[in-house]
Amino acid sequence: MTNMRSYDEEIRDFNWTIPEKELEYQPGHDINIGAYCSDRICTQGKGDKLALIWEGHAGEVKQYTFNDMRLLTNTMAQYLKNLGLQPGERICLFMDKIPELYFGFLAILKMGGISQPLFSAFGAESLLTRLADAGTAAIITQKKHVAKVRVLLKDMPGLRHIIIVDDDESKPLREREIALHMEKEARVENFPVFPSKAETPSVLHYTSGTTGKPKGAQHVHYSLISQYISAKYVLDLQDDDIYWCTADPGWVTGTSYGIIGPWANGITQCVLDAGFKAESWYRFIEKHKVTVWYSAPTAIRSLMKEGDEIVKKFDLSSLRHLCSVGEPLNAEAVLWSKKVFGLFFHDTFWQTETGSMMISNYPTMKIKPGSMGKPFPGITATVVDLKTHEPITKAGIVGLIAIKPGWPSMFRTYWNNEEIYQSKFKNGWYICGDRASIDEDGYFWFVGRDDDVINTAGHLVGPFEIESALLEHESVAESAVVGKPDPVNMEVVKAFIALKPGFQASKMLELDIMNFIRKKLSPLAMPQEIEFVPSLPKTRSGKIMRRVLRAQEWGEEIGDISTLEND
Ligand code: PRX
Repeated sequence: MTNMRSYDEEIRDFNWTIPEKELEYQPGHDINIGAYCSDRICTQGKGDKLALIWEGHAGEVKQYTFNDMRLLTNTMAQYLKNLGLQPGERICLFMDKIPELYFGFLAILKMGGISQPLFSAFGAESLLTRLADAGTAAIITQKKHVAKVRVLLKDMPGLRHIIIVDDDESKPLREREIALHMEKEARVENFPVFPSKAETPSVLHYTSGTTGKPKGAQHVHYSLISQYISAKYVLDLQDDDIYWCTADPGWVTGTSYGIIGPWANGITQCVLDAGFKAESWYRFIEKHKVTVWYSAPTAIRSLMKEGDEIVKKFDLSSLRHLCSVGEPLNAEAVLWSKKVFGLFFHDTFWQTETGSMMISNYPTMKIKPGSMGKPFPGITATVVDLKTHEPITKAGIVGLIAIKPGWPSMFRTYWNNEEIYQSKFKNGWYICGDRASIDEDGYFWFVGRDDDVINTAGHLVGPFEIESALLEHESVAESAVVGKPDPVNMEVVKAFIALKPGFQASKMLELDIMNFIRKKLSPLAMPQEIEFVPSLPKTRSGKIMRRVLRAQEWGEEIGDISTLEND
């Protein structure tokens, strides 16, 4: 039995009071995600149930029950409060996928803070941009990442605490640093959870756009309503499931469906804190008897590349439901998963801004491989005309994916950037920035992004951020960054660079620039290819025309180039 009845029945009967009632939430009363994911599950009598099965890269395993989670999040919340951190302050989590990351996330919410998770592979500059914008008051991190925090202290006078969760006292702590040893902290049995209301800010997730700096999509505690019910319906999470979300909480999938959705449903999740390797992933599924698996197309394509034979070496019979998110899931990958796992991967479409799944393939609905599926119950989604933003009523016509505002997990603003937030709404619709068409059966088919943002391995990177960082390299006069097709990662970053006089293009220089970006920003932002060019195509007003270079990479028509200066 699936949690969801037929799609048509759910669509007919659904309204948001259904999840509100299931969660015993009464409008106007308190709603705190931290408490919902730990305390409430214990109150339901599931305190002894496993909440987290964690495995490190050396194969070591740690397990925590919901009662452990309750106590650990209480203890950490009290610790943060004792440091003088206030409700509403931004507290950053900058860690690998270690247990403290998960407890820390919920603890921050329990004490009323705004949780700001950032991907631990970010370099110092990526980190600084996001901390400075958020005015972050404290950062919780690991010893191995602290060097990246130390270099930005002078630019972050408001960052009061650097909390290190694994300090071994081998070296003295420096300015603003403090060691938190969870195992030594006395467990706090009762913590006065911050009485957050529906609209109280909860999570700040930074996401990249075409221009300007990354923007902080700000969410509220009421997002729980969407995250809870979509995890229940789309991931079909049931009481005896062992669920594995492969995403890092530095990205929205890792929080909405790697923390909030499953734990609000009282589900046991497992986490693998190790990089991708087909063999280790299959072993992990076999060892922990994973039943529901939420992953991403790049990972699926990488598994596909490793072939079918390796799958047979493992007992993966525990798997019963598979879902995917983040990039287009090609039909071949869906069919391959049916062949090797006996199950289709169910594609889901959503964004940092939407906070929860918007368009999905449901366990009870016929899959059309290659389609993103249909809107979630309670979500009104369509495609609108590229210019007029009027809904397109004819099947098969490409337009912009648009969603009627008002669903619980919708972002409430971009931090410090209400103007850009407002610009995302047109004609009464939230415009996602993606192109798609809808077929005669109501299924959505993804076409591509409507901007220059690069989606590499399911992660958005902004060309502007990379171009700005490239300019800081001594040899770079100007640059343009575009996505280039890649069979596994869908797109990878390619940089076109015009050098300053006195610099010669060479393999050495190419590697040096790549490394420069990897360290400064992140491995994802690092160009996989650099093409040195004498000059870049520009409009008459001097704006670099990325679209010409992108079209060249994708073998597409260049379109209108009447404003091109140097063709
Ligand atoms: O372009 C779409 C792509 O990822 C973007 C959202 O990225 P982000 O905010 O980082 O959130 C990713 C995880 C929720 C979208 O605007 N995208 C996401 N899911 C899909 C997708 N593209 C195609 N198919 C999908 N299923």
